Amino acid sequence: MKQYAAAFERNREPIGLALGDALAGASRVMEIGSGSGQHAAWFARLFPRLTWCPTDLPESLPSIEAWRKASGLENIEPARTLDVHSPNWPDIEFDAVVTINTFHIVSFDGVRAIIEGAAAGLPPGGVLFVYGPFRFADRPLEPSNAQFDAWLRRRDPDSGLRLFGDVDGVASEHGLRFSRDVPMPANNHAIWWCKEDD
Ligand SMILES: C[S@@+](CC[C@H](N)C(=O)[O-])C[C@H]1O[C@@H](n2cnc3c(N)ncnc32)[C@H](O)[C@@H]1O
Repeated sequence: MKQYAAAFERNREPIGLALGDALAGASRVMEIGSGSGQHAAWFARLFPRLTWCPTDLPESLPSIEAWRKASGLENIEPARTLDVHSPNWPDIEFDAVVTINTFHIVSFDGVRAIIEGAAAGLPPGGVLFVYGPFRFADRPLEPSNAQFDAWLRRRDPDSGLRLFGDVDGVASEHGLRFSRDVPMPANNHAIWWCKEDD
């Protein structure tokens, strides 16, 4: 049942370094769009003080469960269904949300739903951590990302690389203050926001 994400071997270490900073004060992490489940197993082992709560669409759950069981770790909860477009999110308590390579896959309404759902559940100081490629208004898209963006949009016109300013605008509407943007290999970014005090 285990699926293998091609980029996992390349991105797990740089993402892990950024997560070490971003999640310094966290204890329960809800991951959205866990995919194969490899990141959940890797980061739960890397950060034993965290409880990792993976989620995704139903078709991804068997692989996440296979990686969870193979890890033998007790700090990963069973994978739960979370469709970001659904009004019924699972009842998970969290003080951080991590989502990797999802903002360019889901529609912008999906991005908005992730931000709204995170903001609604995070306590003050809680973190929304997003990894993936972004567009920025003050610089041209790197050629590799421009190609990737065109490919994504041909496949699904609602997908594509998001403009950081658009995402940050939605985050700030929901009380999430931009914290850091750490450039990552292959023109990706680890970007996180902190929930403001009420
Ligand atoms: C490119 S994959 C990234 C998977 C994993 N995070 C990784 O980096 O290997 C995008 C993920 O978003 C999930 N996804 C797509 N639409 C979704 C939705 N509406 N709600 C929740 N997850 C969704 C997919 O099932 C998939 O696991």
